[in-house]
Amino acid sequence: MKATLPPEAYGELYDGISKVLFSAEAIATRVTELGEQVSADYNGRYPLLVGVLNGVVPFMADLLRTITIPVEVDYLAIASYSAETRERGLVRLEKDLDETIKDRHLLFVEDMIDTGLTLNYLLQNLRAREPASIEVCTLFDKSRRRLINLPIKYKGFDLPDRFVVGYGLDYRGKYRNLPFVGLLKPEIFQPNNR
Ligand code: IMP
Ligand code: MG
Repeated sequence: MKATLPPEAYGELYDGISKVLFSAEAIATRVTELGEQVSADYNGRYPLLVGVLNGVVPFMADLLRTITIPVEVDYLAIASYSAETRERGLVRLEKDLDETIKDRHLLFVEDMIDTGLTLNYLLQNLRAREPASIEVCTLFDKSRRRLINLPIKYKGFDLPDRFVVGYGLDYRGKYRNLPFVGLLKPEIFQPNNR
């Protein structure tokens, strides 16, 4: 088996992409750099990596394996009440963490931070449980769309205000399995239908 498949192997999914912005190789290189930083910074602190399902799964899986110190991992899942409430950062916890986080060093791992409203809500929720520390690691950051200022310690790539899919990021549930990240063709992407 080849280590990675070429974009064209993803037939129907690849047909929906107008431009590949980050190849699987470019993502892997950057993820390894992030893992090296995390390993150095958290050496001796046994951090708990926390991710939000489902989008973070590919990034978390790859990041974990570039971290060379002992870590634990846990996930939560959220649901937006509606598109409208999501715009205001109102989300409901569908699945909470399994671990107790009091006095733990948390590294919150995200695929994408856009307005920051979702993350802000989740950080408030987690801070109330009194972890020893919380830092954020995101693969993609649309920093120009931020509505709330959040400290991001580890960032993979900055993105323009464009909707992207692949490597966990979806459009209506699809495209998560692409190993690269690209722009959707405008005839497929309807901004009000995310
Ligand atoms: P926000 O920071 O509260 O605005 O929401 C961030 C979430 O919106 C991310 O975790 C993604 O699930 C989703 N999201 C934002 N931009 C994109 C994109 O370009 N593609 C796919 N999902 C996105
Ligand atoms: Mg997400």
